[in-house]
Amino acid sequence: MHITVVGSGYVGLVAGACFAELGHEVILVDNDPVKLSALQRGEVPIHEQHLPELLDRHRGKRLSFSDNTSEAVRLSQAVFVAVGTPPMHSGEADLSYVECVARDIAGAVCDYKVIVGKSTVPVYTSQWVRKVMLLNGAPHGCFDVASNPEFLREGTAVVDFLYPDRIVIGCDNARTAKVLEDIYKPLTDGSYYQNPNRIVGPARYEPPAPIIVTSTRSAELIKHASNAFLAMKISFINAVANICESVGADVEQVRTGIGTDARIGHRFLYPGIGYGGSCFPKDLSAFRAVARENGYEFRLLDEVMHINEDQRQRFLRKVRTALWTLKGKQVGVLGLAFKDGTDDIRESPAIAIIESLLAEGCRVKTYDPAAMERAAEVLPSASVTFVDSPYEAASGADALLVLTEWQEFKSIDLSRIRKELRYPIVIDGRNLFSRSDMQKHGFIYLSIGRPDVVPQEEEQKFRTAGHLGEI
Ligand code: UGA
Repeated sequence: MHITVVGSGYVGLVAGACFAELGHEVILVDNDPVKLSALQRGEVPIHEQHLPELLDRHRGKRLSFSDNTSEAVRLSQAVFVAVGTPPMHSGEADLSYVECVARDIAGAVCDYKVIVGKSTVPVYTSQWVRKVMLLNGAPHGCFDVASNPEFLREGTAVVDFLYPDRIVIGCDNARTAKVLEDIYKPLTDGSYYQNPNRIVGPARYEPPAPIIVTSTRSAELIKHASNAFLAMKISFINAVANICESVGADVEQVRTGIGTDARIGHRFLYPGIGYGGSCFPKDLSAFRAVARENGYEFRLLDEVMHINEDQRQRFLRKVRTALWTLKGKQVGVLGLAFKDGTDDIRESPAIAIIESLLAEGCRVKTYDPAAMERAAEVLPSASVTFVDSPYEAASGADALLVLTEWQEFKSIDLSRIRKELRYPIVIDGRNLFSRSDMQKHGFIYLSIGRPDVVPQEEEQKFRTAGHLGEI
């Protein structure tokens, strides 16, 4: 099928490349000439596993790039709208880009087309898009508007797209559903998984992908409600971790105990310094605003956001507990991205924590496998040094902080880190290390929701020196 994807941000770029991978003819439209020519030259603007391979495979064949929305729409049967919906001051999503695209598309509708919302949008957006298109000259009966929310995660976006837990199609008639079902057919009839050149997916994936057809409003709500639920799970385990700290329990044991209940599950139950990224913070505020607008005070979401914010403050208190005063101290920081597998630092708790440390007079040496370039654009160069390895970050530091759950940090040489540090203090905001390993290597090790590790000889030394508070 001929498909246009408008917007070559995270979702648009991945969706476009994956639609081409499923055998469709795809035009990716963007109004940013710099981005377009970079894509045309073969550059990949985001750090995402398998994306370079897919772009290489399909660029100039089934995947082309354009700045001409009207022409692309004229050539396509389905038009996916994947432009940004950034948060406004009020917490509501700014839908002006979506409206703008709807106007552009309207003028190009000549034969039947399905316009599909892929961006995360509040309920009723599909209806507004329909109205804007009619007002701007799209002939009645010549188009339908659908909602097809995307559930991919950064870092695993391509695999999430091609091996989905479910495909949600929100539409208001069978004709629209049929167009979208045809687009996803290689996933829902399982033929993609027979392809010898397929992108390899998770070992335990059970194809075919289930398809859920709903009304457009339900589909829009499914997306917001899914993200809100996942964020709630994270805030819930963070709150439990805080109680564990108060009573001397271990959140890892509690997590195993509750996650083993199949109704709860282990996933998205990892405590830490809170969720970040371009989705959860924005989508929770937007969902909160949607609920309020429609007469419901969704206070549960306020608490989810509050716990999330508080996690950063609690982490900073741990740093102060270990180091006492912060002015003039040097800290090593492992991790800048909002999560592992990405170079994205939007709403990254790591960046917020570093900014607080800098404000209190710390100097920071930091390493991240992918996000240093982006972080350098927002962190002041005078007090932050970007280095090439975890060992350099630890070198001469008063403490080492772990702020992103990069799996590669798990295999660092702890003996070497111990030698590099000025004091053997590690404060782990992602519970990456086992307490017994840290004990064996002689670290003072503070983590989230687990008893602190303080080797006997260090306890004596540091308590006398006033370094450790009541831990
Ligand atoms: C999230 C959702 O997981 C996707 O399903 C959704 O499609 C996407 O938002 C979106 O709306 O576009 P993403 O923001 O890429 O995906 O990242 P997640 O893997 O969900 O992680 C979000 C944050 O939660 C990260 O900061 C991560 O470190 C944190 N997290 C995650 C935890 O603190 N604990 C966990 O157990 C899981």
